[in-house]
Amino acid sequence: MSELFFRRYLISSLFKLSRNQAHTMREKELTTSFFIYDSLQELSKEDQDLMNLAKKSLDHSWSPYSEFKVGAAVLLKDGKMYGGSNQENAAYPLCLCAERVTIAAAESQSPHIPIMSIAVTVKNPNQLIDQPAAPCGSCRQVICETERKHKQEIRVLIRGEVGPIYMFKSGKSLLPFSFDETFL
Ligand code: THU
Repeated sequence: MSELFFRRYLISSLFKLSRNQAHTMREKELTTSFFIYDSLQELSKEDQDLMNLAKKSLDHSWSPYSEFKVGAAVLLKDGKMYGGSNQENAAYPLCLCAERVTIAAAESQSPHIPIMSIAVTVKNPNQLIDQPAAPCGSCRQVICETERKHKQEIRVLIRGEVGPIYMFKSGKSLLPFSFDETFL
């Protein structure tokens, strides 16, 4: 095979290879779902209590910069509940979200008891929030990793100041394509 022929052969096969690879591209869909309750009364007594603790926890929010209060509460397998709220800092990136404050409180005081549910509610003194606020990506990641720690799905209930409650059966359903320790 002459050098020129070989070079042409190589270039044309590389070209074919890249075209073939393009044909292998495919789309994969990630779907998720959640449940909508129109009022607190539709929830079980336990979920109502949890949402009420999240609401009470709004009073302990320290949010002078955003003025956006977030209250959360977790229910543990032994029935214990912990509340928590967002805690802000003038050094903005240090602000702590209510979900992570609350999970950290529970995990540091009851490290061996799985969290079964987390309820989250919000309040903005400047406007009435009547739809649930979506938990941020970092909090979703922490919820997912807490599920893996205890091998227990965590139900996520979210609500605005008033209005419907959205219930996700697990943190994973809020963050379907998530990083975990198996990648390490
Ligand atoms: N925040 C939470 O507490 N949870 C979330 O999932 C999203 C945002 C807080 C952080 C900050 O104090 C305020 O809301 C505005 O971003």
